[in-house]
Amino acid sequence: MTLLVHTRGELAAAPRSGEVAVVMTMGALHEGHAALLRQARLRAETVIVTIFVNPLQFGPSEDFGRYPRTLDADLAICEREQADIVFAPSAQDVYPHGQPQVRISPGPLGESLEGASRPGFFTGVLTVVHKLLHLTRPDVAFFGEKDFQQLALIIQMVRDLDLDVEVVGVPTVREPDGLALSSRNRYLDAAERDRAVALSKALRAGADAAVHGPDEALAAAQKALGEGVDLDYLAATDPLLGPPAEGPGRLLIAARVGSTRLIDNLAVTFGKG
Ligand code: PAF
Repeated sequence: MTLLVHTRGELAAAPRSGEVAVVMTMGALHEGHAALLRQARLRAETVIVTIFVNPLQFGPSEDFGRYPRTLDADLAICEREQADIVFAPSAQDVYPHGQPQVRISPGPLGESLEGASRPGFFTGVLTVVHKLLHLTRPDVAFFGEKDFQQLALIIQMVRDLDLDVEVVGVPTVREPDGLALSSRNRYLDAAERDRAVALSKALRAGADAAVHGPDEALAAAQKALGEGVDLDYLAATDPLLGPPAEGPGRLLIAARVGSTRLIDNLAVTFGKG
């Protein structure tokens, strides 16, 4: 039986035992979140899920207002995956003193890719993740690789600020045709849904060409992308989001399909080029 709590007081009073895992979400849960919950369930005795659409990480022209809020369906998934506690606080409970004046700066790693396209996004993410770590007090926290730069920044924050938690990345879950699961996929109409698969197809084409080097990978990905999406960025990096080098690397993409902005990424191995 999953216990639903809404306030930090209720959360502090909720029973917990043994190793504690947290899965942080903004709700609108899908099978990608379920995969995180399953990993958490396998690992820890107490599993806490947070559901909070964090206003701090949305820009003024972004989708905070229309972001899907589906608490009943989310709770059903949490029950199914045997989460112990769902913490679904209000903004007033997370930010009782209003907009926080002190925030976590993501540093240089937060300036490229998503950080360049969405000013303030990673400051908002890291600030709320830091707060939620304090409120939930987990031993281990699970985050999806779908938000690869976010995961890298959370790992760096935990390291740089000596936070006492283990961070585990969980591979992206995809539709059978390759589309990465995302809460924002539900914004897509049928025609946009068909076009959205271009992102993962581009990454796969890039991965196939990566043996020839990062430039060739990017060229192949760009070619496979076609014209049905509006590209924001397509990038080749090393696994830590630095400049690509021979060996393990990452291809990352962000694009708009209609009015919906989607991101995806894939592990690749770069040849000499
Ligand atoms: O990935 C998300 O859903 C959010 O960025 C997170 C980590 C829950 C912080 O609001």
